Amino acid sequence: MLGELPMTTATNLCALACAVLQEADPTAKIAAGAAVAEAWRAGTICHIGVCQPPLRPARPAYPELRWPRDMPRRSTSGQRGRTALLHAIAHIELNAVDLAWDLIARFASPDLPRTFYDDWISVAADEGRHFTLLAARLAELQAAYGDLPAHDGLWRAAENTTGDLTARLAVVPMLLEARGLDVTPAMVDKLSNAGDLRSANILQLIYEEEINHVALGRRWFEWSCRRLGVNPVDHWRDLVGKHCKGVLKPPFNHAARSQAGMTTIYYQSDA
Ligand SMILES: [Fe+2]
Ligand SMILES: [Fe+2]
Repeated sequence: MLGELPMTTATNLCALACAVLQEADPTAKIAAGAAVAEAWRAGTICHIGVCQPPLRPARPAYPELRWPRDMPRRSTSGQRGRTALLHAIAHIELNAVDLAWDLIARFASPDLPRTFYDDWISVAADEGRHFTLLAARLAELQAAYGDLPAHDGLWRAAENTTGDLTARLAVVPMLLEARGLDVTPAMVDKLSNAGDLRSANILQLIYEEEINHVALGRRWFEWSCRRLGVNPVDHWRDLVGKHCKGVLKPPFNHAARSQAGMTTIYYQSDA
């Protein structure tokens, strides 16, 4: 258990990030991540360190993870439909927690500025809060994370980019999280129309915070492109074509994307 920081055995940020990744229980994982974030902000973690993160983070026995094509058809109406929707988003948020810690542990390097770690630690903490809010809402609906199967596509996308920070930023925040901005407003409307304002409000809060995650991803991607001496738009298109062909499809939420600095020049071929 990592709820209390094992500072004696893991004195550097990377080792602590790896310990979060190796915690299987979602509640303990998020508590551990929050403790690392607090220690980082308080300045008590003095070294970045090095650590080889696991290829896959530890996860609870349930939900059963399936390929997206093997997922059962999701009911879209009534409380069952809403529960399935919230369960699917909770799973995405738990993946997002691990993705943020994996980014830190995997790509840590002495030539990255402290603000890189500040930003991704704060993203990890946000994702943990998102999962916690959804898990609490599922409980109010007499359900729990793990009750339904969940698809494993998100982590598999991350596995394709384990060797390249720029590719990871191109795919995870700038492609997949930006896709979340496209689809979430319709989910908020659907929940509101069904009279489930509590769930709608949670998704709205997540949506607003995710705009910042896309913005941070875009900012660090462009920083990384400057270091490599490549054009960010061309490089992003190359990386997305290589790692996630076919994922970039309209409709796009232009307003939210542009708030995050993901202007159409990135994602529209005729822009
Ligand atoms: Fe999130
Ligand atoms: Fe996020």
